[in-house]
Amino acid sequence: MLSSAAVQPLTASNASDHWRLCVAPMIDVTDRHCRYFHRLLAPRARLYTEMITTGALLHGDAQRHLDFNRQEHPVALQLGGSEPDALVASAKLGAQWGYDEINLNCGCPSERVQKGAFGACLMAEPKLVAECIKAMQDAVSVPVTVKHRLGLDKNESYDFVRDFVGTIYDTGCRVFIIHARNAVLKGLSPKDNREVPPLRYDEAARLKRDFPDAVMVLNGGLTTLGDCEAVLPRFDGVMLGRSPWHDPSVLARLSHAWWPQLTVKTEAEVIEALVGYAGEQIAAKVPLRIVVRPLLGLFNGR
Ligand SMILES: Cc1cc2nc3c(=O)[nH]c(=O)nc-3n(C[C@H](O)[C@H](O)[C@H](O)COP(=O)(O)O)c2cc1C
Repeated sequence: MLSSAAVQPLTASNASDHWRLCVAPMIDVTDRHCRYFHRLLAPRARLYTEMITTGALLHGDAQRHLDFNRQEHPVALQLGGSEPDALVASAKLGAQWGYDEINLNCGCPSERVQKGAFGACLMAEPKLVAECIKAMQDAVSVPVTVKHRLGLDKNESYDFVRDFVGTIYDTGCRVFIIHARNAVLKGLSPKDNREVPPLRYDEAARLKRDFPDAVMVLNGGLTTLGDCEAVLPRFDGVMLGRSPWHDPSVLARLSHAWWPQLTVKTEAEVIEALVGYAGEQIAAKVPLRIVVRPLLGLFNGR
């Protein structure tokens, strides 16, 4: 059911547990099979879809893009787009499909995304982003959130990102996922854009200090439990991307440490559950290699 939620009742104090551990949206990685696998390892993690563009959703095979297993909850749909009407239509579809959150990508620097005038280049247009977020908030009852960078190209001014976040905060948005480095729009590949611009956790922490009642999730370069525990006192949560892709067992270690009351599956139990899941998927004509691809990292170095 859809209902209007212009003002979201989320604050850092009541929502932080929901975002404490997030697995990042990653194109060609975090498909529904990968998310199912991650859920087996991390019962409380918040899982994000790959970025899905409004064009793909509204003019393509929505079912293929949106279907997910109900065990994936809580699961967030990440959208790529910059037109309020298309974003509203896509957010409504996502909410109807049962997603727990709609996230707008304001951090992807790829040329393809720049041509579509969305992703990281939206950071130069905070008023447009605010318009999009407000329109989506008015259309769906689940939280509408933003994933963004700290700045664009060589601009490392804190005022730039503070004003970006502030403009969106004024719409009622209360969850910001900060990939704590700049995006370089010309001259760096997406891969280099995840490695070359320096990480600036202190700048991200300033945002948390300036917007204390917003949920601020830190992303970028977090690999181990130790990394995450070192930054958590200054943030409400962490988002990990490449590390659970390369070594999924980190999700089980984080879950053990942060939710000791939960039973976290052993590796053997995870594999057993996946065998059952793979059987169902094969029966539904999904190729086995796609279902088991996310598993490969579990056997790294063995
Ligand atoms: C293969 C790959 C695909 C990615 N696709 C997306 C995406 O669809 N949307 C997005 O916001 N970020 C995307 N990212 C960026 C990650 O979400 C994350 O911000 C980045 O990898 C930094 O986090 P990490 O250091 O934990 O990997 C992608 C990253 C990788 C490695």
